Amino acid sequence: MRTQVGIVGAGPAGLTLGRLLERAGIESVVLEDRTREYVEHRIRAGVLEQGTVDLLREAKVADRLDHEGIVHSGIHLQFDGERHRVPLADLAGDRSIVIYGQTEVVKDLIAARLESGPPLLFETPVESVDPERGVIHHAGGELECDVIAGCDGFHGVCRSGIPEGVLTVFEREFPFGWLGILAQVAPSIDELVYTHHPRGFALLSLRSAELSRYYVQCDPDESADDWSDDAIWEELRVRTALDGWRLEEGPILEKGVTGMRSFVAEPMQHGRLYLVGDAAHIVPPTGAKGLNLAVADARTLAEALIDWYGGNGDDHLRSYSQKCLRRVWRAEQFSYWMTTMLHKLSDDAFEQRLQLSQLRYVTSSRAAATSLAENYVGLTTMA
Ligand code: FAD
Ligand code: PHB
Repeated sequence: MRTQVGIVGAGPAGLTLGRLLERAGIESVVLEDRTREYVEHRIRAGVLEQGTVDLLREAKVADRLDHEGIVHSGIHLQFDGERHRVPLADLAGDRSIVIYGQTEVVKDLIAARLESGPPLLFETPVESVDPERGVIHHAGGELECDVIAGCDGFHGVCRSGIPEGVLTVFEREFPFGWLGILAQVAPSIDELVYTHHPRGFALLSLRSAELSRYYVQCDPDESADDWSDDAIWEELRVRTALDGWRLEEGPILEKGVTGMRSFVAEPMQHGRLYLVGDAAHIVPPTGAKGLNLAVADARTLAEALIDWYGGNGDDHLRSYSQKCLRRVWRAEQFSYWMTTMLHKLSDDAFEQRLQLSQLRYVTSSRAAATSLAENYVGLTTMA
């Protein structure tokens, strides 16, 4: 089998890239390890930057997003028993965020691809890739390609196809994780609340008018099964308590623990192989950047491939990694900053005083709040 672009992985990165190439008349085959059902129900991110929404609209996969996505023009930071609003849109040139689950983005992209026909093969694990020859070895045989897009996430096989000594890896593992729940109850908040509390971080988010998505900081290696529903609600209540406000509870539909790390592998390309999204970089979720970065990489690679197949040379392909890494490192710094400002890092009272001072500054200085807002909604200068 042969194609122009072989895409490994049907997550947000691979599906977005496939869609952009399809619209430009470039052939691709997507190979995905898991079933369609599994991929469509893997609960992860929920915040789309304006740039991500704009791209999905241009790619003509935003009909449902435009109907069901919830536009938020602010977020809240809570500390010391007070909740402070950061007016994102006011501070960041009228740019906002849209709440729309990653599961829904993935469903929309899969439906669009299956409807128009280019191959999307589920339950087809890729075993290895050859970046020099442009060959993908998978369970069913070999796929020869002009270009391989490694969109197979952090635990995929593409990154390890790059010969030893080529990649430089930068990594930080955080000594905490997030216990996340999806609950069948109307969200008790109308905008996201990020909470700093002596017992640890908590985040109140949502998926729809009936579904709440809440998180509490926990040990990275504890199991979600060790937490009873009552214990989760109690911890959420304590950490987000506020005079005159109540956290409504409901049945917990899903719960899970996510570890937190920062990770970048440079360069994001070698030979015919280009790494896209989590395959090349991971951010802790506090800045809500993971999915948005994956989509931005996919756009950069699609534009470079459109140029190349259009006979306009390979300058953009050759500078793919360099271009992506500018945005990636900005998101790494922002996510690291949000994470270390909001989580319980230790029992050190000095460190906690510094965090509280930083939170007070961010919520009282327009300049500091503007910096948070423009990073949170996505910097246009990094496009
Ligand atoms: P992925 O979504 O990981 O997609 C990779 C795809 O490749 C998968 O479908 C996988 O099955 C497939 N694959 C892997 N190996 C192979 C193989 N050998 N052969 C074929 N296919 C393969 N970000 C946020 O902004 N907010 C959040 O709350 C948040 N929560 C997260 C929770 C978890 C548990 C995880 C893991 C990530 C979370 N993220 C969050 C990050 C965000 O979801 C990711 O950044 C985003 O999914 C990246 O998309 P991707 O397409 O690069 O990778
Ligand atoms: C989510 O809704 O899942 C979510 C929101 C904001 C984050 C991380 C996750 O920073």
